[in-house]
Amino acid sequence: MSTSPPAPPPVPAVRTYDLTRAYGAMTALSRLNLTVNRGDLFGFIGSNGAGKTTTLRILATFLTPTEGRAEILGKDVVREADSVRHMIGYMPDFFGVYKDMEVTEYLDFFGACYRIPSGKREKTVVDVLELVGLSEKKGALIGALSRGMQQRLGLARVLIHDPQLLLLDEPASGLDPRARIEMMAILQELQRLGKTIIISSHILSELQSLCNRVAIIELGKLIYCGPVQGARDQMGVGRVLWITTTSDLTMAKDLLAVQSEVAAAEIVEGKLRVTLKDHESDPSIIAEVLVKGGVRLVGLREEEMGLEEVFLRVTRGTTQ
Ligand SMILES: Nc1ncnc2c1ncn2[C@@H]1O[C@H](COP(=O)(O)OP(=O)(O)O)[C@@H](O)[C@H]1O
Ligand SMILES: [Mg+2]
Repeated sequence: MSTSPPAPPPVPAVRTYDLTRAYGAMTALSRLNLTVNRGDLFGFIGSNGAGKTTTLRILATFLTPTEGRAEILGKDVVREADSVRHMIGYMPDFFGVYKDMEVTEYLDFFGACYRIPSGKREKTVVDVLELVGLSEKKGALIGALSRGMQQRLGLARVLIHDPQLLLLDEPASGLDPRARIEMMAILQELQRLGKTIIISSHILSELQSLCNRVAIIELGKLIYCGPVQGARDQMGVGRVLWITTTSDLTMAKDLLAVQSEVAAAEIVEGKLRVTLKDHESDPSIIAEVLVKGGVRLVGLREEEMGLEEVFLRVTRGTTQ
């Protein structure tokens, strides 16, 4: 019998150690400890003002931390800022648009900034345009492109020096659903090509299916960092079961309400909604209790709790 070799241990691409940033008396980022591994498509999630841009600007060497430190591929973002800049592509949440420039001219300009020799630059520009699906627009004026295309051009720009790590600050914001899906497809392709990508967003549902790991921050503090699936478990959000029965709902509810595994049982739209105390609780216990109690069970379904739901539950009350 052959067994597959164990997966190699993850290699950190980004690590922050108690990373802290204050603006005057206001602490925007408080002791953030974050690990992003090589090859991750990493979602950085938080509501407005949570500290996403502050973190990304520190990683991109544009802002210095007040306390703590951060490393990118082993290099300190403050002491070794020059090396770090060559390894990263940073796409800010807002970047000035060179409306009267042609697409190719614009990319060639940034290629020159990174001192890519002119002979090589031409091919590089063709390649990055191909990657972001803008080959047909190479002669177009930037001002004439749709918002989605401009965002993809912004992505092409940060790819020009072939960085290993991409820091993308809300690249999908303001895009229509189609443009958003296109952007996400490009990011998946970039991950396949071996890039490590950090993407920030306050739109949680789209990151849930896109990213393999996420961090959730709120008011400058890290709430969770790890695999997408683990977010629910680690944050102690209990499972929710929906029960359908032809028996008396109130009787079923009373049977369950006294069980030690059950946090809450309520009747919602002709069904019984049961919240288990923690994620470890086994839903089959619920079925057993009901059947033993003479309840005719027609259906028992576990609610698929999305990341959005988890996020809302965990951060409830901390915002506003
Ligand atoms: N230059 C600045 N001066 C003062 N406060 C700032 C500055 N930049 C950001 N902040 C504050 O820091 C907090 C975090 O902001 P930011 O990092 O932009 O969050 P996000 O990108 O998650 O919306 C917010 O409360 C914001 O108002
Ligand atoms: Mg921001």
